[in-house]
Amino acid sequence: MNTTAIYPGTFDPITYGHLDIITRATKIFDNIIIAISNNLKKKPIFDLKERIELTKISTSHLKNIKKILGFNGLLANLAKKEKTKILIRGVRTIFDFDYEIKLAAINKQIYPDLDSIFLLSSKEFSFISSSFVKEIAKHKGDTKLYLPKEVHIALLKKINNIIVQ
Ligand code: COA
Repeated sequence: MNTTAIYPGTFDPITYGHLDIITRATKIFDNIIIAISNNLKKKPIFDLKERIELTKISTSHLKNIKKILGFNGLLANLAKKEKTKILIRGVRTIFDFDYEIKLAAINKQIYPDLDSIFLLSSKEFSFISSSFVKEIAKHKGDTKLYLPKEVHIALLKKINNIIVQ
C-alpha cells in the first residue's frame, strides 16, 4: 500500500521544528504533501509564493515530498481532494494537545476518512514557533539556530525591508 500523508501549516517561515516533523514523517510514509495555508488572518510576513519557495528549498534534500502547495479554505477538503487519509500534526508540548484534539475532531467531521497522526517534536525544537523566530529577528537576535540558511537570509532581508519602510 502506498501511503500519502499531508502536513499543513502557515510556515511563516518554515523552521527547523517543522523540518524535524517533516523529515521524520518522510521515514514513516511513502509520500508527503506539504500544505501551506494562505492564512491571511495571521498577517504572514512572507506571502504564499515566498513561503512555498522557502519550503521547497528547505526540503529539497528529502526524496519523498510529493508536492508543496498553497491553499485557501478548509484543510479537510484539501486532504479529500488530494486523496490522502492521513493528516500529520506536530505536538510540541502538552499545551498543543487540547487544541489538536479539537482540530482533529473537526477535520474528521468534515472528512470522516481522515485520521490525524501526531508526532512529538524532538526536544530541542519543542519551544520554537515561527512567531518567536520572527520576534528574535526583529530584535536583531540570531535566528541561525532555528532556521535553514536560506530561510534565515530571507527573514533578515524581509525584516530589514519592514524596518526601513
Ligand atoms: N516546530 C516548530 N514550530 C511549530 C511546530 C513544530 N513542530 N508545530 C507548530 N509550530 C508553530 C507554528 O510555526 C505556528 O507558529 P505561529 O503561530 O507563530 O505561526 C504555531 O506553532 C502553531 O502551529 P499550527 O497549529 O500548525 O498553526 P499554523 O498556523 O502553522 O497552521 C493550520 C494552522 C493551517 C494547519 C490550520 O489553521 C488550518 O488547518 N487552517 C485551514 C482552515 C481549517 O481547515 N481549519 C480547521 C477547521 S475550522
